[in-house]
Amino acid sequence: MPEELPLVLISHSLPAGWLESLQGRCRTLVGPDITTRLAPELEAQLGQAAGLFCLLTIRVDEALLERAARLRVVSNMAVGVDNIDLQACTRRGIPVGNTPGVLTEGTADLAMTLLLAAARRLVEASDVARRGLWESWAPAGWLGMDLNGATLGIVGLGKIGRAVAQRARGFDLRIVYHDPQRDAEAEASLGLAYLPLTELLQHSDFISLHTPLTPETRGLINARTLRQMKPNAILVNTSRGPVVNTGDLVTALRQGWIAAAALDVTDPEPLPADHPLNSLPNCLVTPHIGSATHNTRRRMAELACENLLAGLAGKRLPHCANPQVYET
Ligand code: DGY
Repeated sequence: MPEELPLVLISHSLPAGWLESLQGRCRTLVGPDITTRLAPELEAQLGQAAGLFCLLTIRVDEALLERAARLRVVSNMAVGVDNIDLQACTRRGIPVGNTPGVLTEGTADLAMTLLLAAARRLVEASDVARRGLWESWAPAGWLGMDLNGATLGIVGLGKIGRAVAQRARGFDLRIVYHDPQRDAEAEASLGLAYLPLTELLQHSDFISLHTPLTPETRGLINARTLRQMKPNAILVNTSRGPVVNTGDLVTALRQGWIAAAALDVTDPEPLPADHPLNSLPNCLVTPHIGSATHNTRRRMAELACENLLAGLAGKRLPHCANPQVYET
């Protein structure tokens, strides 16, 4: 009797062709387009599944893993893995795949887009024009901030932080960074200056966040750190929402502790429609679209398939977020 192909649960349906490489290699059960939980029909098969292909909106925790006794691999179609309890996976010998590298350029492009849009008050200005409220060119109408000569502070100098620095050089920004690890090569090749976090916050006109979400970075931007920023500072977040304390940010924007914020990620995500961040004129919110380009999302899906297939075959994942799993 031919051996039955392993069962893989795919939390969300994806555009045609993105999962091509799985054909003939596993049986798949695919969830709906949009969901923040495994669909009931997938839940019902958890105990039989050898693989789980999921997006960042699905929580993979002890409770889920307990119901997935045959799971051999979790493949997250994201570079961030804060939705997954890595330690619990490691304890069970389950490797977790992620998709680093392929979304670096797209996310860095969006960080610069948000920075420019907030600096030039693009959404406010466009809104006035579209609503027919623009009366005439005015000398002091819609004044924004110059980039050239201003200081950009990059918090977290991983791949995306570096890619933002590369782009910022073209706008003649002075660039400083903070990261738990200094990067002498980046300092020399990109002309970056390292600063302790407090100094970075005190001296930057633009602050762009590029840290993963960890217990250390959760709430890193809070009332205390927001008060350290300049009143003209613009905060850009394309990392993870909970790196910023939402309530404290609302206060900072209302009280003028900082000038503006441009957020691709929020906490919670999505924000309720009537949330103050959605109506404050000095806040711009986009729906977590850092990686949303045709090529990037397709590459993320392909990489997630590569990780998944490697895991099903008992091979080392090309991109493994819990390499400790191979030490035991
Ligand atoms: C990721 O991959 O972690 C991104 O947030 C998706 O856009």
